[in-house]
Amino acid sequence: MYILGINAYHADSSAAIFKDGIMIAATEEERFTRVKHWAGFPALAIQFCLREAGVTLGEVDYITIGRDPKAKFMNKLNYLRKNPSLVFGAFKRYRNSKEVTSLEHEFKKIDPAVDYTLLKDKIKNIEHHRSHLASAFFASPFETSAILSIDGSGDFTTTMIAVGRGNKIEVLDSVDFPVSCGLFYTAFTQFLGFPHYGDEYKVMGLAPYGEAKYTDKVKQVLKFLPNGLYTWHDEYFVQPTKAGFKYENNIPSVGNLYSSRFVQAFGEPRKNNEPLSQYHKDLAASVQRVTEELIFYILKHLRERTGLDNICIAGGVAQNSVANGKVAEATGFKGVYIPSAGHDAGISMGSALYYYNHDLGKPRVPAIYSAYTGSRFSNEEIETFLRSRNIKYRRLEDAALFDIVTDKLIEPGVVGWFNGRAEFGPRALGARSIIADPRNPKAKDLLNLKIKRRESFRPFAPSILKEYSGEYFSKTDEVPFMEKVFPIKPEKQADIPAVTHVDGTGRLQTVDQQVSPRYYALIEAFRKKTGVPILLNTSFNENEPIVNSPAEALDCFLRTQMDMLVLENCVIERADNA
Ligand SMILES: [Fe+2]
Repeated sequence: MYILGINAYHADSSAAIFKDGIMIAATEEERFTRVKHWAGFPALAIQFCLREAGVTLGEVDYITIGRDPKAKFMNKLNYLRKNPSLVFGAFKRYRNSKEVTSLEHEFKKIDPAVDYTLLKDKIKNIEHHRSHLASAFFASPFETSAILSIDGSGDFTTTMIAVGRGNKIEVLDSVDFPVSCGLFYTAFTQFLGFPHYGDEYKVMGLAPYGEAKYTDKVKQVLKFLPNGLYTWHDEYFVQPTKAGFKYENNIPSVGNLYSSRFVQAFGEPRKNNEPLSQYHKDLAASVQRVTEELIFYILKHLRERTGLDNICIAGGVAQNSVANGKVAEATGFKGVYIPSAGHDAGISMGSALYYYNHDLGKPRVPAIYSAYTGSRFSNEEIETFLRSRNIKYRRLEDAALFDIVTDKLIEPGVVGWFNGRAEFGPRALGARSIIADPRNPKAKDLLNLKIKRRESFRPFAPSILKEYSGEYFSKTDEVPFMEKVFPIKPEKQADIPAVTHVDGTGRLQTVDQQVSPRYYALIEAFRKKTGVPILLNTSFNENEPIVNSPAEALDCFLRTQMDMLVLENCVIERADNA
């Protein structure tokens, strides 16, 4: 049985395909369109999934779409009754949604031969947050677990709590749009001068430079409710629908969410290029702290209510790796699972899993610990490509390759590492990564100078051989997707300055030999030479979506000052191609 899941007409549109419950391919549309957070119809991602599965659109048994326009219909009407000025906008959106849901047109573009009358019956709408819940729980190793979905918004919900048992998910409660933990964080992100969709991680990176001095003040905009959920005080926010969610040219954007009352409370918003003051850093620290308190408040109640030991988390807020790293300690949950695509790209995967397990009642399949479900290229394809571009390269066996790559890292050099199938989700995990020596105190400056040119306060992350994580970190949980930040042991911080954030933490990836054999072997080669089982790992891109193909990797290499590029077994040196 083939199920194609899609996230369409929403930020981070994506597709995932399952054969008998096993995910055989999944990818974001942005990797093909080369537009970050692409929010249109995931036509190229769908075509990729079909190719990987070796089936046509007509041969797919079900197509699940992670959106349900009918969800919470009465709540939506009530919201409009209370906010009559928004009726026109809502009507416009409804009309647009009728247009965008012309799926026949989209599917026919992919396969003109497909019989849409047959295909139509295979299309199933799965509500947004149920898709998030399923993307975490049904991919987790847990037979029973509490589940939290928490994001900006989707299908008029912003937070949903549930229990998963076997192949069923039971929703316990939810928070209605517009009250939203995600939008609360977005409002402060915008206020702090980071206006783009998805900029929240910058506030998270900035927070450790400040002191959480203003938590009481920040908390005033929210209200923690006795039922374990929350609301907010409307006067601090512009109604999000009024502020404007836009998908112009398929690029998502959100208008300013902070109101004049908000400005009264927190002062003038930071202008885009205004230097970051201590106040901005302290405010970032306070917002991060309050967000953590809110997440832990919800989770503690959920744990009491369910009496369960495991928690699965998804939704945009589940990308807050700093909060994720503290969940076990702060809430008492013992097992914590967060999927590689915890954000909206995971909706494609989650909608398919929800339909397969919950709706069709199919048995659970093994837990997902690998994010490597994206594009792949053979050495032969890569060689043909390099020759077509007149690029000088050498093709080496693995052992010789790892030797020269680790020498280059130690030199110190920066290496583009393109290996196996691309990752599904926002983190590079050793398939489309730029790597450097974590011992080099200047590596961060080197990377920012040569390639990334990003804000200097943002940290770089460590990939560590799983067996050694307890030696370097004060916690030893598995972190396959860089989804948690843990404290680095104080005595180890000076050994790996390039991946130690200002507060002594690191957003680690525990590298498992079974899951990532080649990346594991490369880090092991580095360990043998240096005694350090860690590499600095950052995404392979330069202000663009992560590279997907050898052509994009080569262009990024040629455009920047990376020292070496590795495409599978082919090595391209800067000196040979100057
Ligand atoms: Fe979402």
